[in-house]
Order: sequence, then structure tokens, then C-alpha cells
Amino acid sequence: MSKNSAIEFRPLAGALGAEVLGADLKDDEAFEPIFAGLMEYGVLMIRDQDLTPGQHKAFCQRIGDPLPVPFVHTLEDHPEIIAVIKEADERTRMVFGGTWHTDFSFLAAPPKASCLYAREVPPFGGDTLFASMTKAYEALSSGMKALVENLNVVHSGRRSYGPVGAFANAQLDSMSVTASDDGDAEVIHPVVAVIPENGKRSLFINDIYAIRFDGMTEPESAPLLKFLCEQARRPENLCRLTWQRGSVALWDNRTTIHYAIDDYDGYRREMHRVTIAGEPLQGIRQGIQ
Ligand code: SIN
Repeated sequence: MSKNSAIEFRPLAGALGAEVLGADLKDDEAFEPIFAGLMEYGVLMIRDQDLTPGQHKAFCQRIGDPLPVPFVHTLEDHPEIIAVIKEADERTRMVFGGTWHTDFSFLAAPPKASCLYAREVPPFGGDTLFASMTKAYEALSSGMKALVENLNVVHSGRRSYGPVGAFANAQLDSMSVTASDDGDAEVIHPVVAVIPENGKRSLFINDIYAIRFDGMTEPESAPLLKFLCEQARRPENLCRLTWQRGSVALWDNRTTIHYAIDDYDGYRREMHRVTIAGEPLQGIRQGIQ
């Protein structure tokens, strides 16, 4: 009997997240139950995997095409895998992923999912927090829902990858990130996206890449963006993933945001990430992108 015929999901928190027991991601039979679990829980933690970069990509390919990664230098033989590393003696006061975000939401077709594989973890700390953007939407009043359903939002990578972004000013010790004019590009998404696979409605904003509402200035947009981001980060809307070597996290990049906690100075952490291509997001109403 395949190991995957006994896959079990144990919820990690009320809002989102489940631990997956009894799965082997090298086995094709794992895909269907895991994808169904991803659509239900938003983020999954799959323990005790032993994957080569090729096997990691092969699993992700069942979900969609691994995305050629912009700005961040990849593994030499695998242009779809980035090594997310903080060194034990890291000199930069910054970690990759250390602000609330969803991966590359500044792309016209934002990634559908991301898959992070732990290769080396500190003895404590280095957890990743996730927030449910479907629950954040559901918690809004009917009046606020009606307001945001009619808005589009401009996303840009400029605060990270533009000529004056964080990576133009500081380089991480073991990751190479090239900031450029392309980082300043802007795209427009609906504030409330409808997820094609399950019809869920999700707030598609985050602290770092959502710059302003379409048709408004940044100062005009800031108070409502701040309110929505704070709503998403309420404790009851979160789950926390604690890593072990060999753990794999898989998240729906359209319905969650995440934050890598930088609390393990003196220890090395290395993860491999595959980002899985998505499609342009659809809003609720005709005429809203
Ligand atoms: C990321 O933002 O993809 C990295 C998350 C992490 O290192 O925990």
C-alpha cells in the first residue's frame, strides 16, 4: 500500500493551516489529496521529506509551472529554485521574507502557490507566520465589503527591488538579489480576488507590495490599506509554522500572506523555495480586473 493512501490533515489553528501526516511527496499519489488540503486550509506543513531539487520541482509541477524567479539569483542548475539563507554570522539586519507579504504579488499573473523546503534549521526560532486573507475578507462588515469589492489596487516591487528599494541598499550575505528599474513596475489587481478553484474571496493586499488603490494617491490610500493589513494580522487570523529539517510548507499565494521571523542570530537557516506560476486575478464584478 502506498504511504499516501493514509494521508491525514491535522488543523494547526482556527483560521488556516494544517499539518499533513503520512505523505511522501516523491509519490505521484500524494498530489490530489494534498492539493485538496491546500484549497481547504491555505497552508500545509508536510514533515519528514527527503527531496533533491529535481524532486522538489517535480512535485510542484503537478500544481503548475515553476516560475522563473525575478530579481533573486537562483540555484545554478535550477532557475526556478531560490535558496533562502540566513548565515550564522549574517551582517545584514534583514532577512529575506521578513515583512508581511505574499510572493511576487507585483507580477501581472501573481504566483498560485509557493513551496518551501527546510534544508537546515536553527535549534529554535526561524518560524514562519501565515495569515488568512479569505478570513480577513469574511470578517469585514457588509459596508466595507461593498467598498473594497469595487476597488482595484496597484502592486509594485519597488520598496524591495526598485533602484531605491531595500535590496538596492543592502545585500544579504548568502543571497544575491539584483535591484533594477524593473522593480518599479506597477500592476493592477482587484482588491477582492475570486479564487478559480474554489470560489473563495480573498483580500489581495499586503504591507510591502500593495502601494495604493487604483485612481487614488498614496496618502489617500494609506489609511484604508493600513486598516485592511492590520485586520489580516489579528492573532485569531494567524497560524505559525515551526520548522524541522525536511519539513515542506506549501501555501496558496493568493489567499495567504506570510512573515519569516528573524529571531535566531548565531545559527544558520537554509530553505529552498519553488514559486508556482498563476494567472491574472479576477475580481467579483465585471469591469474590475
Ligand atoms: C519567503 O518569504 O518565501 C520565505 C519565508 C521563510 O523563510 O520562512
